[in-house]
Amino acid sequence: MKIVIVGSKGMMGRELIRTFDSMHDVAVIDTEEISLESRDACHRTIGTEAPDWVVNAAGCIDADECEKNPDYSLAVNVERAGNIASAAHDAGARLVHYSSDYVFDGAKNAPYTEDDQCCPMTVYGDHAVKAEKYIRTLTDRCLIIRMGWLFGAGEGDYVRIVCDRASRVGMMSVLDGPQGSLSYAVDAAVATRLLMDGNHTGIFHVSNRGRCTRYSMTREILKIMGRDDVDVVPVPATEMPRAATQPPHATLSTRKLTDRTGRTLQFWQIAMRHHMARLRDEPLREELRKT
Ligand SMILES: NC(=O)c1ccc[n+]([C@@H]2O[C@H](COP(=O)([O-])OP(=O)(O)OC[C@H]3O[C@@H](n4cnc5c(N)ncnc54)[C@H](OP(=O)(O)O)[C@@H]3O)[C@@H](O)[C@H]2O)c1
Repeated sequence: MKIVIVGSKGMMGRELIRTFDSMHDVAVIDTEEISLESRDACHRTIGTEAPDWVVNAAGCIDADECEKNPDYSLAVNVERAGNIASAAHDAGARLVHYSSDYVFDGAKNAPYTEDDQCCPMTVYGDHAVKAEKYIRTLTDRCLIIRMGWLFGAGEGDYVRIVCDRASRVGMMSVLDGPQGSLSYAVDAAVATRLLMDGNHTGIFHVSNRGRCTRYSMTREILKIMGRDDVDVVPVPATEMPRAATQPPHATLSTRKLTDRTGRTLQFWQIAMRHHMARLRDEPLREELRKT
């Protein structure tokens, strides 16, 4: 099977490559390589690859940036996503598109299912909804995977940020804000593969079990590091305003994923241990590669 991955250098893109590389013919398209603004360029590049699947893991995930610059957000997260969807359709390929829990406002007092009405409260969330709707007008062979806050190997990884800070400071002030779902990129990539293998289409929620706040996540990271001595000060959201308000209590129900694939993702705390063990081993693996 031929799979094209767009946005291969991001947290999700890297894990998708690891997940598919040994089993399938994988081609990666970096956003630097082609102009994703150009529908023609997308069609040409994806058409030349003649893939069975296009997995789009590219996008601007900075909700604050999207709030401040909605035109940019629209161009990157809706129009470019549409160009990729249209190119996949024309190439006869199926599409995977990633979306977010920001499509909800968090007012429901229970985990959101795929059937719940979208009600975004930010530009990032609004554009996530628009992208979902738009790509579905362009191709009916698409799988839309909504995730919670993602952690995994990559530049924006909050786990790595906390680890780095813990080695420098003895105290951290952390948002004790809304509860949400977490998605571990490794588990999300495996879930993506399962859904693709089953030729599923439509919307699926993919997140690890359990829910957390940024505060509880930080505490867990420090516990795993053996750095309980670092003082973590919880700061209410009102004292840490952001351009884009994170939806309160927007947790995702993954029952549909379990019903269709028979799989439930592990608790986020276990996934976190796995991720941090990999982070620790990474320098060692680099050294071994050099010898
Ligand atoms: N991170 C989260 O918390 C989260 C939560 C829910 C859903 N998602 C969704 O999951 C997908 C992957 O997220 P991620 O966390 O892996 O993202 P990431 O680490 O920020 O990587 C995003 C990728 O998108 C490309 N990209 C970044 N800015 C771009 C721009 N302005 N124009 C076009 N492409 C751009 C980059 O491609 P190059 O490497 O080629 O430059 C990068 O590899 C995204 O669709 C995101 O919306 C993420």
